[in-house]
Amino acid sequence: MSKPQETAVYTHGHHESVLRSHTSRTVANSAAYLAGSLKPHMKILDIGCGPGTITADLAALVPDGHVTGVDHAPGILEQARATAAGRGLTNVDFAVADVHALDYPDDTFCVVHAHQVLQHVGDPVQALREMRRVTKPGGFIAARDGDYAAMTWYPAVPGLDDWLELYRRVARANGGEPDAGRRLRSWALTAGLTDITATSGTWTYSTAEERAWWGGLWADRTVASSYAGLAVAGGHATTEQLEAIAAAWREWAGQEDGWFAVLHGEILCRK
Ligand SMILES: C[S@@+](CC[C@H](N)C(=O)[O-])C[C@H]1O[C@@H](n2cnc3c(N)ncnc32)[C@H](O)[C@@H]1O
Repeated sequence: MSKPQETAVYTHGHHESVLRSHTSRTVANSAAYLAGSLKPHMKILDIGCGPGTITADLAALVPDGHVTGVDHAPGILEQARATAAGRGLTNVDFAVADVHALDYPDDTFCVVHAHQVLQHVGDPVQALREMRRVTKPGGFIAARDGDYAAMTWYPAVPGLDDWLELYRRVARANGGEPDAGRRLRSWALTAGLTDITATSGTWTYSTAEERAWWGGLWADRTVASSYAGLAVAGGHATTEQLEAIAAAWREWAGQEDGWFAVLHGEILCRK
């Protein structure tokens, strides 16, 4: 096991407005780049599993194998366990772990996966080295992260430019890298990985229902999640500025011609 490292502060936390987004995630909408490489017997480690909806999907795809979901935050694992139990899955377990120093022997897992995690950690290259270490020879290291600077939308609502600028500033002050998607391949090369397939994937929100959901959860996150508290405590924004950004999200969501695209970088590496 490698030496533990000081990690970044996780910007979003696990407020209900954040979990509204995390619990909507599936292998189909968040790990399609990996799905084709899965075999029923595989042993998978899902790092930063959060509430565990992707973890549970992975477990269903490896009925003769096993999935371990780990997260740095102990509190969210109860929800992850309930998600798996609710689906009747018996080939999945959960534990607390820090991606920088995993408590597993070398060459343990067929697949080591992390969705929207490397953007939040203090040392993503060390994280990828650890992910590689616990992967079996011939196995896969898979990571997918959003890229905030590449997010784009219509129509131009000025308060959303303020949202993007503020979010990126707060995430960096917490030790993360909000524009992680474009950097994944570079981080993997620095970590010593050589067989890397780099792709991209998107989420798009345009119907009235999608806009209400995406705009509503970001409006609520902006005033009520850990991110709101960290933005104010760090002197990055006032409560009034956060309320103005939340109003901008609701204004965008109310636009009939509204459209929002979230770009993600993806890497699928063979050890
Ligand atoms: C954006 S959430 C993603 C959750 C899940 N993978 C998904 O996509 O729905 C990031 C998760 O990574 C966890 N996390 C942050 N830093 C971590 C670290 N150093 N080691 C392990 N998990 C970490 C957070 O607690 C959080 O649950």
